[in-house]
Amino acid sequence: MTMHRSLLKPLFAAAAVAAIGATAPAPAQPAGQPTKQPAKLKVGLMLPYTGTYAALGTAIENGFRLYLAEQGGRLGGREIEFSKVDDESDPAKATDNVNKLVKRDNVDVLVGSVHSGVAMAMARVARDSGTLLIVPNAGAGAITGAMCAPNIFRSSFTMWQSGYAMGDVVAQKGHKKVVTITWKYAAGDESVGGFKEALEKRGGKVQKELTLPFPNVEFQALLTEIAASKPDAVYTFFAGGGAVKFVKDYAAAGLKGKIPLYGAGFLTDGTLEAQGADAEGVWTTLHYADALGTPRDNAFRLAYVKAYKLQPDVYAVQGYDAAQMLAGGLAAVKGDIGRKAEFAAALRKATIDSPRGRFTLSASHNPVQDIYLRQVGAKENKVVGVAAKSLADPGRGCRM
Ligand code: PHB
Repeated sequence: MTMHRSLLKPLFAAAAVAAIGATAPAPAQPAGQPTKQPAKLKVGLMLPYTGTYAALGTAIENGFRLYLAEQGGRLGGREIEFSKVDDESDPAKATDNVNKLVKRDNVDVLVGSVHSGVAMAMARVARDSGTLLIVPNAGAGAITGAMCAPNIFRSSFTMWQSGYAMGDVVAQKGHKKVVTITWKYAAGDESVGGFKEALEKRGGKVQKELTLPFPNVEFQALLTEIAASKPDAVYTFFAGGGAVKFVKDYAAAGLKGKIPLYGAGFLTDGTLEAQGADAEGVWTTLHYADALGTPRDNAFRLAYVKAYKLQPDVYAVQGYDAAQMLAGGLAAVKGDIGRKAEFAAALRKATIDSPRGRFTLSASHNPVQDIYLRQVGAKENKVVGVAAKSLADPGRGCRM
């Protein structure tokens, strides 16, 4: 794999930074007084539990609960009470759904969601109501761009980050003409946008941008069009159930082994059992991989498997880190989430000790993180190198 040499930067640069204090002691009680417990902190989980992203929502919740359990069921000295809404990855229902959590259940914190259109509706409500929002997946740039706010944080990524990193990889592999295929909504558009930006900077060309509406999986006609276009490579964003079907259909159409397939890593994350041999060899870029081999990740993976009898994936990591971020902010304000400016200030200077590797937040509150180059082998997303070191989303349009 000589063409990858330039991408193979050292995997884990030592980070000489202190991780956020994860465990906060419960507030001290004056001597001789009966122990008074602070009220429970209400966390509103708004995630997809049905539809093509259902498994992603469950993994995020599992990760969040794993971190909470590791802290003995308390964050910043507060016990946690959950309210849950299945958002069905439906942007049309998103404002009503988030208002159920904010207005009906009076939650202190919103955690959600997977789908960018849903999360943008959550960000609007969070901005208007001042409720703290931690986004554990959705990658639309606007959430930490034009819609950025002191009370909105992301534990995940922007679509631009993995897309841009892959544009560099594909150009360096010498591919000139690329066809892209994705769902027509913010996440797909921006994944392709980041990819195209990097590819074209290096002299490559996106020849054709194919799309279909979310969550449609009728890929046949588009695969026929790809075969007829004879590109050097294909780049794609699909995730969840749609990603499983796309990888299987790509192989069934006879394209596997003929036209190399590249993707944002969601294409093969949490999906490999179902994709089987059809996913072998697929190259992706993402801020996590299955075989990082660090003590931090090994411990996380072991604990996750023990708790859920399932392998963790990137979504589980993002849920785990959303809980870590909440814990870090709460510790700084001794559990008093009303101290919003101090909560935000603590997170803005925190280093999060994530299973993915340590990360900090950009000025617009998005993770600044390494983007790994991965290849599927033996049902694992094996890390091949770092495609982009400490990559920060530009946070275009953010004024805070
Ligand atoms: C999104 O809609 O932003 C999204 C959904 C699923 C993913 C990644 C991004 O795996």
